[in-house]
Amino acid sequence: MAIYYHSSSHIFTLDTKNTTYQMKVDDYGFLLHLYYGARITGSMDYLLTYMDRGFSGNPADAGGDRTYSMDALPQEYPTMGTGDYRSTALVIHNGDGSDCCDLRYVSHEIRAGKYDLKGLPAVYAGEEEAQTLEILLEDHVSGVRVQLLYGVLEAEDIITRSVKITNLGSEDVIVEKAAGACLDFLAGSYDLLSFYGRHAMERSFQRREIAHGSFSIGSRRGTSSHQYNPAVIIADRAATEDRGACYGMMFVYSGSFLFEAEKDQFDQTRVMMGLQRDLLHYTLERGEVLTVPETVLCYSDRGFGELSGHYHRCIRNHICRGKYGQALRPVLLNSWEAVYFDFDGDKICKLAADAASLGIDMVVMDDGWFGKREDDNSGLGDWQVNEKKLGCTLGDLIRRINRLGVKFGIWIEPEMISEDSELYREHPDWAIQIPGRKPVHGRNQLVLDFSRAEIREHIFRQICSVLDQGNVEYVKWDMNRSISDFYSQERSAGKVTHDYVLGVYEFLERLIERYPDMLIEGCSGGGGRFDAGMLYYTPQIWCSDNTDALDRLKIQYGTSFFYPASSVGAHVSAVPNHQTGRSVSLHTRGVVAMAGGGFGYELDPDQMTEAEKEEVREQVRAYKKYAQLTLTGDYYRLSSPFDDVYTAWMFVSADGGSALVSAVMTMQSSNLNMPVSYVRLKGLKRDALYEDKESGRCYYGNALMEAGLPLPAELGEYLSYQIALTERL
Ligand code: GLA
Repeated sequence: MAIYYHSSSHIFTLDTKNTTYQMKVDDYGFLLHLYYGARITGSMDYLLTYMDRGFSGNPADAGGDRTYSMDALPQEYPTMGTGDYRSTALVIHNGDGSDCCDLRYVSHEIRAGKYDLKGLPAVYAGEEEAQTLEILLEDHVSGVRVQLLYGVLEAEDIITRSVKITNLGSEDVIVEKAAGACLDFLAGSYDLLSFYGRHAMERSFQRREIAHGSFSIGSRRGTSSHQYNPAVIIADRAATEDRGACYGMMFVYSGSFLFEAEKDQFDQTRVMMGLQRDLLHYTLERGEVLTVPETVLCYSDRGFGELSGHYHRCIRNHICRGKYGQALRPVLLNSWEAVYFDFDGDKICKLAADAASLGIDMVVMDDGWFGKREDDNSGLGDWQVNEKKLGCTLGDLIRRINRLGVKFGIWIEPEMISEDSELYREHPDWAIQIPGRKPVHGRNQLVLDFSRAEIREHIFRQICSVLDQGNVEYVKWDMNRSISDFYSQERSAGKVTHDYVLGVYEFLERLIERYPDMLIEGCSGGGGRFDAGMLYYTPQIWCSDNTDALDRLKIQYGTSFFYPASSVGAHVSAVPNHQTGRSVSLHTRGVVAMAGGGFGYELDPDQMTEAEKEEVREQVRAYKKYAQLTLTGDYYRLSSPFDDVYTAWMFVSADGGSALVSAVMTMQSSNLNMPVSYVRLKGLKRDALYEDKESGRCYYGNALMEAGLPLPAELGEYLSYQIALTERL
């Protein structure tokens, strides 16, 4: 049993293996937050203090008690209109013109298994693995009901939260703001770790103090975005990679989001994750429900490394679905950086033949195979195979490729429409745009209104008729612009931003139902929609359009705080790199790409020398040898690409018996006289003896973890090093 309700004190306790979460219904029916952190015993309501505080109002129920104020008490789901002047989780505009929602406890239910959310991605678990707590709150005046949902995965130290808002009143209400999870901390000083970036440089690491005032990150782009990832860590100011208390909040959502952190007048801290309020204006008619997507919470008192491990396991085992949630992934050769739009069927077959000779499993025909699409200015929406360009049918092409012993994959961008397309000429009203205004362009394309079922249906049929033409074993689902001009013919603009995302999810669900064995790789100009929501449908995501190995170290480092290596699409590309102009050895490019479970190549093998081809064969063999470890092992960050002269990471198998350590030297002043870098390993069995089969040398786990390994002296700038360790039994 992970969830307990103590009926005389009205306290709910949610226990996981190492953590406790506690809340209480107080005498007035308010749901107060008591505690979240390391596992404890007993009631934590002794933490609550009451004082007469100037300018912090008191609810009428408190009568003359001036010490009771929502402005100071920690709450589970704070709302606007109760005298709490901090940023609140819920803002409701009522039919009578007021902005108020006063939620009081009605009832609760504890049940086996984990709740699911209709139409939304969410953590899943077996009946035995999880429990659900549902608490019903109500505003008695407006009739707005709020169900707070908690999923407890005891063994995983994971607690999930979601919220359902239902209008049971007689008038329409408008949800102006809705968070899915709020955490109030009574004490402590915290840092916020967040992951910012831009196209081709996603998820850079940032650490800053949560100071007085409020700070937010989020997206208004209709996708989770390259700019800010919807996952953050709230850490004790002294916490590090290996030590100290930290909390994770990961939003399982792919649309516009808002995370807020606020330190208030009493030095209390409030953090919230939810839907982006700037775009939300969600009308609920009587009986209508808005479900706020799920937030996955986790606490560790052993630093960020352990927190990441929990999220990796949660995503791999409780978010990613289907065969490729666990199965080994094919090694890909993607046509994009190899030939861009300049190909025909023969060229794709040549890539496939080269792939076969290199041991690569699959060729992916990227953008340019459909409609009129010779560059990125036209054709989106016309999902008919351009047989003239290919010189054959898609079916024939796939058969030719399969005969070479190579699998076939294809690129699609279903959510988009080019103004220069047959679809647009027929249905200009299908694009998201505001009547009477010229729409904002992004990559010279517009976005289809995926909140509308008929539009999704049309595109779904077209895409299926392409996929049904042959043995398509992989799809890269792209999304290459941010959404603007929010407007829909079918619903108010304040609904379209969220309903669009629900439409994308519905489409993806239908696709995976119809093609259960197909691997879908998510993509949005690289990692512009790299989030746990997408991972529910696509177990791997193209991590970035930046394939430069050095930049990838930073991008993959930031990504690793929440997302497992199995979710990271990473390819070896040609040099000089097409995005940065930098040249890095093929060995290093391979080592860096092997940090991702979705390994592949993005170059024209025809341009490689025989020696390079031989090296690629060796790389592919190495990837396959370690794939199981990369996809299912524990991942450890051993240094930071932002602070250290080398970047190192390692994978350790679940039983601790084997490990793969990788390191890349990123800064070097002189190869002749450099200080030696010692990399301390993690996650090994302390007393086990490990052998490096290549050198024959043996080391004890405790030595490698305490004193580390010296990186070879000949390790010059951008050079890399990989060592596989196996326990000697
Ligand atoms: C996006 C993707 C690339 C490639 C192009 C094709 O930028 O991230 O990998 O597929 O689109 O247009």
